[in-house]
Amino acid sequence: SAAEKGGHPHFMFKEILEQPEALHKTISPRIRDGRVVMDDLQLDPDYVKNISRIFIIACGSSYHVGMVAKYTFERLLRRPTEVVLASEFRYSDPLVDETTLAIVISQSGETLDTMAAMREAQRRGAKALAVVNVIGSSIARDADHVIYTWAGPEIAVATTKAYSTQLMLMNLLGLYMGDMLGTIDPQEYTDIVAAVEKIPAQMESCLADKAEIQYYASRYFNHNSIFFIGRNLDYALGMEGSLKLKEISYIHSEAYASGELKHGTISLIEPGTLVVALGTYEPLFDKAMSNMVEVKSRGAEVLALTTELCRDKMEKNADATICIPVTHPVLQPSLGIIPLQLFSYYVALQRGCDIDKPRNLAKSVTVE
Ligand code: G6P
Repeated sequence: SAAEKGGHPHFMFKEILEQPEALHKTISPRIRDGRVVMDDLQLDPDYVKNISRIFIIACGSSYHVGMVAKYTFERLLRRPTEVVLASEFRYSDPLVDETTLAIVISQSGETLDTMAAMREAQRRGAKALAVVNVIGSSIARDADHVIYTWAGPEIAVATTKAYSTQLMLMNLLGLYMGDMLGTIDPQEYTDIVAAVEKIPAQMESCLADKAEIQYYASRYFNHNSIFFIGRNLDYALGMEGSLKLKEISYIHSEAYASGELKHGTISLIEPGTLVVALGTYEPLFDKAMSNMVEVKSRGAEVLALTTELCRDKMEKNADATICIPVTHPVLQPSLGIIPLQLFSYYVALQRGCDIDKPRNLAKSVTVE
């Protein structure tokens, strides 16, 4: 009913708007006096010091959270971190022993492949740390450690607030473990924590720009193939942006690492093809820009996403530019995802799709 949706037309829209509050719930109990605290996680420092490698295991959007977290974990923990699809991991004879930490990410805590992959890792001696939204779910119960995202119930099939809170909780976990290991530069630690605390308010300002995103959706909803390109964290962000769009609007879309375009995908660019160019990761902005110019010169229509830091350069080359506030580079995807979710939502709305229950998809996949 409309009341359940808080007066909004769809659960997805309601849940998109709930993100600042959801993030606040994820973050605020876990930062005290400028330090990350994890009262709900009893990790023995000696155990953490012995971790030789980390697997992040998940499906769907939760896997895309892992894609972002891999970069952040390797930066903050200096431990090899691999992201694996649960359905692949479970049958891959994985190289796991007692020094392996398996981090499993699941909104529902009931995804069968993720559950089975977690058990496989445990059977081989790993400890499993689960990042879960649904309290008391199967994965939460069977993991060795569990931390909750506290996003509240998510109803729309396409995840939004669960994705955002998972992403943030992984950042907090990276800070917490990196601090234990002494692998984070103290200044960087302080800077990231301060930036984390500002994210909910900055997200609010991204949401306030929704009319602009709705306008771009009305301009581009008729495309039948869309490419998301970016490097590093923007590549990981593009994977989620692309999945969101295809899930609910049924438009074919692909995420590509910008530097890989010339090895194949660029052959699909023709005059008018829509490319969403993600240029929010400032350290690689110039590289991302040169790939964008390559697709532009082959006739692509470029919708760009960037921050205030690079806006001027971006606007010179893109057909349209969406600008989000600046945060610490590792947190930039937490803001970048907002316009991408809104874009998918408004495109699907224009196309008359069943947004909360897209065809063939389920909220939680409990069969193989
Ligand atoms: C389904 C949902 C996705 C979700 C994936 C993993 O495919 O439609 O939104 O990302 O399952 O679900 P989980 O509950 O394990 O995060």
